[in-house]
Amino acid sequence: MEEHLREIATLARIRAYAPYSRFLVGAALLSVSGRVFAGCNVENVSFGLTMCAERVCVGSALQEGEKDFQTITIVSDSEEPIMPCGACRQVLAEFSPRMNIISWTLSGTKKEVTLATLLPMPRQGILG
Ligand code: THU
Repeated sequence: MEEHLREIATLARIRAYAPYSRFLVGAALLSVSGRVFAGCNVENVSFGLTMCAERVCVGSALQEGEKDFQTITIVSDSEEPIMPCGACRQVLAEFSPRMNIISWTLSGTKKEVTLATLLPMPRQGILG
């Protein structure tokens, strides 16, 4: 499954709309039920409107009726695997504060952490 998620995120990355930063990110979100939702970053000329790949995945999953997540896999072309930004950590924590995060560089370096490590003492959402 780990390799499958990596592949899906790698393919999603190619579809990133990132003409401003030129930093393409792909992500694949695995639900507890076993379904996979892909996402890529979507930038805007009004920079603050940019959506990270992670949050695009969450939107895709929600509209398909899934909101319990086990893992999100991220792929980017960076020296070190990237970690989700603060906004994405909070959005993921709304649904699945105990989920895992696996990030890959294009060249195959992997970093794995829990969301709880990245966002300790989260503001608790309505789902608990
Ligand atoms: N970005 C993501 O999509 N995910 C991350 O985890 C880090 C950053 C995007 C936002 C922006 O389009 C570009 O990468 C540069 O920050």
